[in-house]
Amino acid sequence: MDPIINAILKPKSIAVIGASTNPDKIGYKVVENLKECGYKNPVYPINPDADEILGYKCYANIKDVPYVVDMAVVTVPARFVSQITRDAGEKGVKGLSIITSGFSEVGDHALEEEVVQIAHEYGMRIIGPNIIGVLSNSDKMNASFYNYLPYEGKAALISQSGALLIAMAAATYTRRVGFDKMISIGNQADLDFADLISYLNEDEFTTCITLYIEGIKDGPRFMEEARKCKKPIIALKAGTSAHGAAAAASHTGSLAGSAKVYQSAFEQAGVAQADDLNDMFDQTLALSLQPPMKGDNLLIVIYGGGVGVLATDAAEKYGLPLKFAPQDVQEELKKHMPSFGSAKNPVDITGGAGLKGYYEGVKYAYAHPWVDGMAVLYCETSVTDPQEIAEAIYNALHESGASGKPIAVSFIGGERCEKAVEWLIEHDIPTYNAPDLAVKALASLRKEEIMSQNADNNFFKPENIDSEKARQIISIARAKGRAALTEVEAKQVFKAYGLPVSPTALAHTEDEAVKLAEQIGYPIVMKIVSPDILHKSDAGAVKVNIKNEQGVREAYKLITDNSLSYKADAEIDGIAIQEMAPWATEVIVGSVNDPTFGPTLMFGLGGIFVEVMKDVTFKVAPINEATGLAMQSEIKSSKILQGTRGELPRDQKALAKVLAHYSYMVHDLRDEIAESDANPVIVYEDGKGVAIVDARIILTKK
Ligand code: COA
Repeated sequence: MDPIINAILKPKSIAVIGASTNPDKIGYKVVENLKECGYKNPVYPINPDADEILGYKCYANIKDVPYVVDMAVVTVPARFVSQITRDAGEKGVKGLSIITSGFSEVGDHALEEEVVQIAHEYGMRIIGPNIIGVLSNSDKMNASFYNYLPYEGKAALISQSGALLIAMAAATYTRRVGFDKMISIGNQADLDFADLISYLNEDEFTTCITLYIEGIKDGPRFMEEARKCKKPIIALKAGTSAHGAAAAASHTGSLAGSAKVYQSAFEQAGVAQADDLNDMFDQTLALSLQPPMKGDNLLIVIYGGGVGVLATDAAEKYGLPLKFAPQDVQEELKKHMPSFGSAKNPVDITGGAGLKGYYEGVKYAYAHPWVDGMAVLYCETSVTDPQEIAEAIYNALHESGASGKPIAVSFIGGERCEKAVEWLIEHDIPTYNAPDLAVKALASLRKEEIMSQNADNNFFKPENIDSEKARQIISIARAKGRAALTEVEAKQVFKAYGLPVSPTALAHTEDEAVKLAEQIGYPIVMKIVSPDILHKSDAGAVKVNIKNEQGVREAYKLITDNSLSYKADAEIDGIAIQEMAPWATEVIVGSVNDPTFGPTLMFGLGGIFVEVMKDVTFKVAPINEATGLAMQSEIKSSKILQGTRGELPRDQKALAKVLAHYSYMVHDLRDEIAESDANPVIVYEDGKGVAIVDARIILTKK
């Protein structure tokens, strides 16, 4: 556990620099909140003109405090913060929580960098600037200018928005989702999401980490820390516009957008995504209180009402379709319900079972090894008391002898239910006011288990690659002032990374073209090779299915003429002579260099699937072959690869290998490749491999 972050989040003493005697000022509020919320350790207000604030002795300068200061909250205007930071450093303060606004968020990057640099000179770390502060129930520490600590619980929130953090802290009471810590990180000038995830992973008071993210600064480091984190992480990502897409030169570039890349990165790093604020709270409730669900066997127990059907629909919708309970489970459950109940799944114990039948049924089912997770649903009736039902559920679970399996509950009803819901949550049972939410919570717990199994298997380095050769080809092209490689060069780079490019040779004269065509064997394809013509078909500079010498000579002239009329001053390297790959399923593989996460791989089916339907999927590179296979089933048109309408399955294993090698190539050459496409890639029948027919690499600007 990082001792400096610990000093900020669990300080043994706090100074408030800019503490004010004016109750309307933030510097007063912070001192007041520390006092009112019950912070027990020493508080030192710093103010040049005051003797005491709210009963705490005041000091004119932090350096005058005669005791050790772990953390200083800064509430002076931005122009004083550099000097304050230096004073704090000289005093030996361990970390700063800078509430002050007026830094990079208003364009003053220089001031922000200066403050961080000063802090680092003294070994200090900073949270903020431009934050609400930090709050922690376990220390009764409210070092913020929001009046209350959140509803007590086991989650931790890291929020980039201060205002939203305040709103969420208030909402924890009405939603009854408990947090131990709430950390406002504002501009993330120094400590960022990754640092705090790493800290919270070790924090004994945190069982689940919830993030409100507008932007991540260092994507790869975020992914690394999220992957290492053993606790569930839920992210609500705001801002879904496709930045950079408009300016993209390659196909992949125009399809990738920040939202899609974020989504892939989260999935690869085992971070659950929340759809919206409601979902963020709902998932936090489940993931902070219950263990992950180890298998797919969900049992739904209902106590009257038609909620079983709603829950069954939800189970299918959220990826946990119900199975009938095994015979022995059904037979035992029947003993605890009237003859008109149902023991299949959902199990309808019915109101006729009485409290005892309900207790016995839940207890038996929860302990049964077939059951991996359970949803218990209750509808308020005039003959039942919700509180008694709540207690029966709790007792049944605790007296079942089983543990380590998740449960989620739904109580639908009025005021009496409200109280029972509160009681259940206080007893660590996530309880919702709709049946689908309880089922969705279990689906999140199931997904958490699946993600934690897959999260750390994405590292891959292929053997027998020749990155030296690839870099040589690139540096020769750069020396000629090129921004992109020609197809022939790009294919050489692909080949250096073990990718199966179709044989291509470069002809500089008509006669040479004929000779090469004969060597490769008819039919052949001919294409212009010019750094100035990236979209060759648009220029009429591609001819396919050339069957003889006459065809080669005609194509040579036509391609040259078309290219020059497309761009009169185009630099022409020659004409590529290429084997005409037999037709099979066309796919596209490509990459972009995402500003946050770096090289990101794209995959989709070619032709209209990519052009019209944009049916593509992304992964942050590098990936391994298992992920390469998973990518193929993620696209909507995946059945085409699996074999449909009498077609044999395609060589998905060979394609997975291509995806893995390609991802390693763009990761390894991330300083050189800005965007790239292999389009089309032809995928043959199972066992017959893959051929990359066209290649494009756009270089990074240097
Ligand atoms: N050392 C100690 N105290 C100092 C000081 C110094 N070098 N310089 C000033 N102070 C004192 C002032 O005397 C004042 O106390 P007083 O009211 O008793 O005189 C106190 O610090 C505050 O300074 P002041 O100049 O009155 O500033 P302010 O309270 O109007 O504003 C901020 C200060 C930090 C609150 C303001 O600049 C700001 O950034 N506000 C936005 C914060 C925010 O919203 N953050 C979250 C975004 S999500």
